Amino acid sequence: MFNCQNALSEKARSLKPSGIRKFFDMLTGREGVISLTVGQPDFATPWHIRDAGIDSIADGHTFYTSNRGTPELRREISDYMSRRFGLSYCPEEEVLVTVGASEAIDLAIRALIDEDDEVIIPVPSFVCYSPLVEMCKGRVILCETTPEDGFKLTPEKLKAVISEKTKLIILPYPSNPTGAILERDELSALCEVISSTNAVVLSDEIYAELTYGKAHTSIATLPGMKERTIVINGFSKAYAMTGWRLGFSCAPEELTEAMFKIHQYAIMCAPTVSQYAATEALRNGDSDIEMMKEEYDRRRKFLTRALSDIGLPCRTPEGAFYVFMKLSDYGLSSEEFCERLLEEYNVAIVPGTAFGDCGEGYARLSYAYSLDHLKEAVKRIEKFVRSLS
Ligand SMILES: Cc1ncc(COP(=O)(O)O)c(C=O)c1O
Repeated sequence: MFNCQNALSEKARSLKPSGIRKFFDMLTGREGVISLTVGQPDFATPWHIRDAGIDSIADGHTFYTSNRGTPELRREISDYMSRRFGLSYCPEEEVLVTVGASEAIDLAIRALIDEDDEVIIPVPSFVCYSPLVEMCKGRVILCETTPEDGFKLTPEKLKAVISEKTKLIILPYPSNPTGAILERDELSALCEVISSTNAVVLSDEIYAELTYGKAHTSIATLPGMKERTIVINGFSKAYAMTGWRLGFSCAPEELTEAMFKIHQYAIMCAPTVSQYAATEALRNGDSDIEMMKEEYDRRRKFLTRALSDIGLPCRTPEGAFYVFMKLSDYGLSSEEFCERLLEEYNVAIVPGTAFGDCGEGYARLSYAYSLDHLKEAVKRIEKFVRSLS
């Protein structure tokens, strides 16, 4: 009989399932669960953006677009990068429209990494970087960040792992899951270390719009960095457009060209309807971002205070929409804590270990949920931790 397992590539076989997935699977079929697991806005996409998508279909824009993305959208992206972050990119040669930031990350890694090339990844961090590097047979060099450093990559830690074999450094700030951000002086200190090497920087700036009190700084704005940085961003988080699957990269022409070659064969072009919607988002969506950000900020303040009040103090996140909560006082592993919280009190949160082994002792709570939802979650978490002490 035909054996499908034997047919699989070594790469596919050795790929581990995502630690977040396991927790979502446990939710299926459960009644009355309060979930703080999902990393996506609870807002529907603003109506004027949805309308632009609907109109594009009504107007018959149902064909492939240019492989790189429509010229209008690339122009808007270029204007946006200049307006919001002070970065100048040529829409024809340095901007690529992708299927979410996810595709852009995959393209960047595939365009740069050969067997044994080293890629530095600060952890805890978003789940896709390591598997994608492993698929290219690159070597993942994890760089553990700690609460003492505010979960920020420091120049000392970077110096300890960087070498002439370092091909790529992933800079995932603002951070999922810790909410840490890097400010200009912190980026500047990292640049001093990076500038003496040949490493490229992949700056995953998907949460750039969601910082609280401090504006986001892109590493590409620092002297000498733009020519070696791939900035990745997208529409999922800031514009509440996760389901539209639209992102983009901005990078020097040679790097964009290599990513484009792969994109062209694998994807052809990002969804046409989403590109029309995204063009409207960039033209008229600044106030939507502000409105949603103010709401996240209210929830962020509520959640950090409420958790602290019940004896679960956590660092106040400065970006994204997650709280990385410390659990280590309860004598349970992160997975045990989260599994029991789900089993006994019907609250779902993600164990810190889903974001790297160094996430042991922590759990991630998303505050992309309504205040009422968060209040109910905190009530149940309080009952659970009381039952443990
Ligand atoms: C840090 C980070 N980068 C990238 C992505 C992927 O975003 P997109 O929906 O644009 O593919 C996510 C999604 O959760 C994320 O948290």
